[in-house]
Amino acid sequence: MYTILIMSRKGGSGKSTTAMNMATRFAKAKYQVALMDFDPQKTLTKWFNRRDEYMQGKNTILHSAATESSFKDEVKNLEQAGCDVLIIDTPPTINDFHNELLDIADFALVPTKTTMEDLETIAEVVDVIESNETAYGFVINETKNKTLLYLSIKDVLVEYGAVLGTITGTVQIPEASIKGLALCEYKPDNINCQQYDKIFKNLNRRLKNKKK
Ligand SMILES: Nc1ncnc2c1ncn2[C@@H]1O[C@H](COP(=O)(O)OP(=O)(O)O)[C@@H](O)[C@H]1O
Ligand SMILES: [Mg+2]
Repeated sequence: MYTILIMSRKGGSGKSTTAMNMATRFAKAKYQVALMDFDPQKTLTKWFNRRDEYMQGKNTILHSAATESSFKDEVKNLEQAGCDVLIIDTPPTINDFHNELLDIADFALVPTKTTMEDLETIAEVVDVIESNETAYGFVINETKNKTLLYLSIKDVLVEYGAVLGTITGTVQIPEASIKGLALCEYKPDNINCQQYDKIFKNLNRRLKNKKK
């Protein structure tokens, strides 16, 4: 099982949105996907509940109600049950629990918007991830491509580690979430779907190489 930890120190950077859109993309590629949500805001869990209702029995994604004390057993259970991909969403605070999650994660995915405030949090997040020796990469989220700010922030992120891809902003992303859908289920023709595809392919390749 591949375990993907979504983390960042910045609220609103797109952690839960990235979790939703990657979960559905892995599921589309026929992976059995499970979600864990450690953010008290429960954005991902609420999305999942809307989805379950909307799909009326056709939802292929699983949701695990694991707690901080039960998650290690739950990871084993999911693996034994044949789960292929576990996506873990976290709050924008970095604490000791992140070290426990990084211990079991195959990859830490760090969404970041292209603001100075986002950039200021990156060094701390990278420090925590690198001290755990977990593979990681960035998703540059909700940006207008090719702006000067985007280009200069991308330069910084490229120096740290891999940038898996960029998602430009579109109102159809939050619209999709209203139904518990990912963008590419709601509007498959949206240009951002190709961007999510690219991130999925990059991430999947890194996970496969790691397990070899
Ligand atoms: N690429 C995007 N385009 C438009 N809106 C986005 C995009 N990414 C995230 N959002 C919106 O920004 C808000 C914050 O995103 P969210 O994923 O909840 O951040 P986090 O989990 O990091 O706090 C949500 O309303 C979400 O729908
Ligand atoms: Mg969130």
